[in-house]
Amino acid sequence: MADSPISHHSGGVVDKAEEEGASSEQKAQMEQAYQQMQRKLRITKLDEDIKRKVMVLSGKGGVGKSTVATGLALCLARRGMRVGLMDIDITGPNVPKMLGIEAAELNVEDGQIHPANGPHGLKVISMAFLLEDPDKPVIWRGPIKLGAIQQFIGDVAWGELDALIIDFPPGTSDEPLTVSQNLPGIDGVVIVTTPQEVALLDSRKSINFAKTLSVPVLGVVENMSGYTIRGTAEPGSELSVMGPVGIPLQAMADEAGNWSLTLDVFKSGGGASAAAELDVPFLGSLPFDPGIVRGGDDGVHRIVAEPDGETADSFDSIVDNILATLDEGSDSQVRIT
Ligand SMILES: Nc1ncnc2c1ncn2[C@@H]1O[C@H](COP(=O)(O)OP(=O)(O)OP(=O)(O)O)[C@@H](O)[C@H]1O
Ligand SMILES: [Mg+2]
Repeated sequence: MADSPISHHSGGVVDKAEEEGASSEQKAQMEQAYQQMQRKLRITKLDEDIKRKVMVLSGKGGVGKSTVATGLALCLARRGMRVGLMDIDITGPNVPKMLGIEAAELNVEDGQIHPANGPHGLKVISMAFLLEDPDKPVIWRGPIKLGAIQQFIGDVAWGELDALIIDFPPGTSDEPLTVSQNLPGIDGVVIVTTPQEVALLDSRKSINFAKTLSVPVLGVVENMSGYTIRGTAEPGSELSVMGPVGIPLQAMADEAGNWSLTLDVFKSGGGASAAAELDVPFLGSLPFDPGIVRGGDDGVHRIVAEPDGETADSFDSIVDNILATLDEGSDSQVRIT
C-alpha cells in the first residue's frame, strides 16, 4: 500500500491484537490489512453510491478548470442534486478558496474523512484542508501522492451522491491516471479550453489522454470565450467604441437604446471547431467575466453571487448538455477506442 498522509485507527481489531500480545510490527501489519479491506469495500460501493462521476481536465494550465469544475458542481447542487467536488490538485488546491470555505477542517471519524460543506450543500474534499501553511509548497513524492489520492477516493464518507465532479492539475499527469485506476465507473471527462490555438492543441492531447484512460469524452467547454460590453445610446443610432489596440469597433443601439459588443479576448469559436474536428461534443462556452476573477478572490463563485447572470446561464446550458449525454446512457457517449 502507498504511504498514508492521513492516519486512521482501525479500532477493535488492533486493540484485540494488543490484548493477545502481538508484536508492534504484527499490529502495524494487521492495521494496514484492516484498512485496505475497509477501503476496498468502500470503493466497490462507490460505483452504486455515486450516480455520475465526471473528471474535469485541460491540457494547459490556467484555462479555468477549477472555475469550471466548481461552477458545474454548484449548478448541479442548486438544482437540488446531492453533489460532491473533489479537488485533486495537490500542489495548488484552490477550490476551497473559490468557495470561501478554506478555513474548514476535515473531520476524521471511524477511519473515514468527512467532506467540508460548501454552498448549496456541496460536499468538498481538497488537499487545501490538510495543509498547515497554505504558502508552503507541497512536495510529495509519487507514493505519498498516490496514497493521498487513494484516501480521497476510498476513505471519504461521501454518502449517496447524484454527481461527483473531480478537478485536476493541468496536463496529462499522474493524478487523472491514478483516479481512473482507483475509482470505478467514471462516466466521462469534460475538457476545458480557451479558444487560442495553443490551448486547443493541448485539448487534442487531453482527448487522446482520455482515450488512453478508456474514459468517454463528454465534450469540450470553451472558457473565456468573449468579453461583452454594454451601454445605452439614442435608439437606432450607430456608435463607435475604441477596442483593444486602438481599433474602433462599430455597434448599433436597438429600439430601446441598448447596445452591446463582444470582444474576442482569445479569438472565439475555437472550442467548437476543435470539438468538431476531434469528433467530440461541444458542450458550450463561458464568457470572459471579470466577476469570475473577483469571485475567485473573494470566495463567492459567480453562480452564487449572480445566480441569474449571464455566466450562471451559460453554466446551466453546459450542465444541461452534460446531463443529457450522461443520462442518455452509455451507447450515445463518445468513447474513443
Ligand atoms: N470565464 C472567465 N472569465 C474571467 N476570468 C476567468 C474565467 N475563468 C477563469 N478565470 C480566471 O482565470 C484564472 C485561472 O482560473 P482557474 O484557476 O479556474 O484555472 P485552472 O485551469 O484551474 O488553473 P490551474 O491549471 O492552475 O489549475 C483565475 O484567476 C480565474 O478567476
Ligand atoms: Mg485549477
